[in-house]
Amino acid sequence: MTRDEVEIVLIAAAWTAGAGAVGLVASRLIARRSLRWLLALVALVAVGGVVAGVIGTANAMFLSGHDRQVVLLVCLVAGLVAVFFALVVGASVVRGSRTLREDARRFGETGEYAASPAGPAEFQALSTELARTSAKLKESRGREQALEHSRRELVAWVSHDLRSPLAGLRAMTEALEDGMAEDPARYHRQMRSEVDRMVRMVDDLFELSRIHAGVLQVSLQNVDLGDIVSEAIAGADPVARAAGVRLGGSVEPGATVTADPAGLTRVVANLVTNAIRHTPPDGVVSITGRVVDEAVELSVSDACGGIPDDDLGRVFDVAWRGTSARTPEVDQQHGTGAGLGLAIVKGIVEAHHGVVQVRNESPGCRFLVRLPV
Ligand SMILES: Nc1ncnc2c1ncn2[C@@H]1O[C@H](COP(=O)(O)OP(=O)(O)OP(=O)(O)O)[C@@H](O)[C@H]1O
Ligand SMILES: [Mg+2]
Repeated sequence: MTRDEVEIVLIAAAWTAGAGAVGLVASRLIARRSLRWLLALVALVAVGGVVAGVIGTANAMFLSGHDRQVVLLVCLVAGLVAVFFALVVGASVVRGSRTLREDARRFGETGEYAASPAGPAEFQALSTELARTSAKLKESRGREQALEHSRRELVAWVSHDLRSPLAGLRAMTEALEDGMAEDPARYHRQMRSEVDRMVRMVDDLFELSRIHAGVLQVSLQNVDLGDIVSEAIAGADPVARAAGVRLGGSVEPGATVTADPAGLTRVVANLVTNAIRHTPPDGVVSITGRVVDEAVELSVSDACGGIPDDDLGRVFDVAWRGTSARTPEVDQQHGTGAGLGLAIVKGIVEAHHGVVQVRNESPGCRFLVRLPV
C-alpha cells in the first residue's frame, strides 16, 4: 500500500465513523418508532458514510472538484433509492408484525391461536411458539373443565348420599319422639349404623380432599407385606363369612416394602371390601403379594364375573360406582357405597409413586398394586 492509499483509508475511516456516530445517536432517538424508520436510517447511514468519506478525501485534495460533484450526485441518487428500498422492506416487516399482533390479540380474546406462517423467520418462530402455547392452554383448560365437572358431580352425589340417610334418621327420630316406634331398640341400632356410615363417608371425603390437595402425608417405614395382608384377611374374615365368600391369600416370605403402614392397610382393606362385596356366595377372594424387579406387587382377585370393558377405565374415578342408581344399599361392613374407595386407593398408591390397575380375569377381576421397594 502506498502512503497516499493509507492516508485515504484513514481519512475515509474517520469521516465515515463520524457519519456512523451521528447515525447511532439518531437510532437512539427513534428507537421506539416503527421498525420502518430504523431500516431507512440504516440505508441513510450507509450512503451518508460514503458521502462523508468522499467529502473528507476531496478536502484532502485526493479528488478534484469535478469528481467530487459527480460522486456526490451518484450518492444522492443511490441514497434515495436505498431509502425507498428500505421503506418498502420496512413496510413488509411492519405488515408481518401487524398480522402477528392481530393474531395474538385474537388469541387473547378467543383463547385459540391460528398460526399464519408468513414473514421473516423470527416472526414465524414466534408464531409457532404462540401456537404451541395455545395448544398447551387448551389442554390444561380441558383438564380443568373435567376436574370441575367431576367436583360438581361429587358434590351432587355426596349431598344426595348424605341426604337420604339423614331423611331416614329424621323419620326414625320423629317416630321415636312420638312414641310410634314399634321396636325402639331396632331403630336405635339402625340409627347408629347410619350415623357410622355417614361418619366414614365424611372421613373418606376428607382423605380424598387431602389427596387432591397434595398434602397427603406418607410416613415411610419398612413394612412386612405378609403382616399387612394377614391383618387385612383377619379384619375382613367376619364379613367374608357372613357373605359366604372364601377369603385366602399368600405372600412371598420376606416381601417388604417402604411404605406408610396405615395407608397400605387402607389400600388393601378397600380392595378386599370391594372384592367381597362383588363376589357371590361360595366365590373365592384371594390376596397375593410378591416381589418383582425393584417392586412389590400386591394383587386382589375376586369372582365378580368381570367389570364391563367400558367401566374398567372409570372405576378409579371419584364418586363413580357401577350401579346406575345412586341409592346406597350398602350394609355396615361393605364400605359407604359412595364410590370413593378406589379413588382413595389410587391416591395413596400414587403418593407412594406406585401404580394400581384392574383387569378382568375369569371368574372375576384382579386389582394389581405395584409399589417401588
Ligand atoms: N372387586 C370389584 N369387582 C367388581 N366391581 C368392582 C370391584 N371393585 C370396584 N368395583 C366397581 O367400581 C365401583 C367403584 O368402587 P369404589 O370402591 O370406588 O366405590 P364403592 O365400593 O362403590 O364405594 P366405597 O368404596 O366408597 O364404599 C364400584 O361401585 C363397583 O361398581
Ligand atoms: Mg369400595
